[in-house]
Amino acid sequence: MDRTNNSEPILKLEDLSTHFAVPEGIARAVEHLSYHVFEGETLGVVGESGCGKSVAALSILRLIPIPPGRIASGKILFMGQNLLELPMKKMRKIRGDQISMVFQDPMTSFNPVFTIGYQLSKVFTLHQKLSRKEAVKRSVDMLEACEIPSPERIMKVYPHQLSGGMRQRVMIAMALGCNPTVLIADEPTTALDVTIQAEILDLILRLKKKFGMAMILITHDLGIIANSAQRVVVMYAGEKVEEADVLSLFEKPGHPYTIALMKSLPHLGKTKKFLNEIEGVVPPPFRVIQGCKFAERCPEAMERCRKERPRLRSIEKGHMVACHL
Ligand SMILES: Nc1ncnc2c1ncn2[C@@H]1O[C@H](COP(=O)(O)OP(=O)(O)OP(=O)(O)O)[C@@H](O)[C@H]1O
Ligand SMILES: [Mg+2]
Repeated sequence: MDRTNNSEPILKLEDLSTHFAVPEGIARAVEHLSYHVFEGETLGVVGESGCGKSVAALSILRLIPIPPGRIASGKILFMGQNLLELPMKKMRKIRGDQISMVFQDPMTSFNPVFTIGYQLSKVFTLHQKLSRKEAVKRSVDMLEACEIPSPERIMKVYPHQLSGGMRQRVMIAMALGCNPTVLIADEPTTALDVTIQAEILDLILRLKKKFGMAMILITHDLGIIANSAQRVVVMYAGEKVEEADVLSLFEKPGHPYTIALMKSLPHLGKTKKFLNEIEGVVPPPFRVIQGCKFAERCPEAMERCRKERPRLRSIEKGHMVACHL
């Protein structure tokens, strides 16, 4: 794909900060975050639990509850227009029509009292203004595209009657129903059994190709990124600490946090233990930290790291790292 300087990203976050008012003060869940995705590309966003990956994604779709949330700075440019400035009515149209999202836990995204068929065909009657009959047909087609056996039967069941993997397939069918330009997949396989995870990820990647979407793939698993994304953004405590194309990230990881994430990747025969190489946890987002947020867990931390926040700088073309080393 052509990614020369004149091709503009389809979606671009610029200096996004999303804060929440909490009893302890202000939770800076996302701080001065910039990332972008090109048409047809997969951008991986990786980081431990609590790093702000989902808050950033929900900010794109303007699904942050305000209050207690607040977009404190930045722009979200989708095909050149700033989504943060759109009236809610227009935003609702973009949501689902052009940018859609697959969540970690499909159960919470369904209404338990309606059948799959009812909920799925609503996507088409509401967004594409199809007749009830056409919508049912499109729904069955989408279920088929998501490799769901006997789709006509599945249309008649309720969400709880499906396995987790099947529910995730239905949710993907729903998200892709309107042929979005950008798909945000937020930990789409985390809640599933290991054997099903690979199947679902494979399905998402094939559908992504078939429908020609751009994708933001959010995960805490660098292993998933390695096989599916072209570029990666590594987040720590609400901030971007590294950005690179996949090859360069795996060949020359620049940030000690990225290196730690890599070391925690499961190896064959070893049980998976997340971040067993570094101690401690992500600092809570309301804590005010002067220097590098990772310093307290970093094996390489120096005096300067505790005093001065490192800025992102380029170490090679398209590869940026925020670290004093
Ligand atoms: N509505 C809210 N009110 C207050 N704090 C919130 C709210 N939503 C999120 N946060 C805080 O924002 C921070 C970032 O959360 P976020 O869900 O984006 O993390 P994440 O990187 O997606 O983690 P995970 O991998 O567990 O999904 C967390 O500390 C979380 O507690
Ligand atoms: Mg999340």
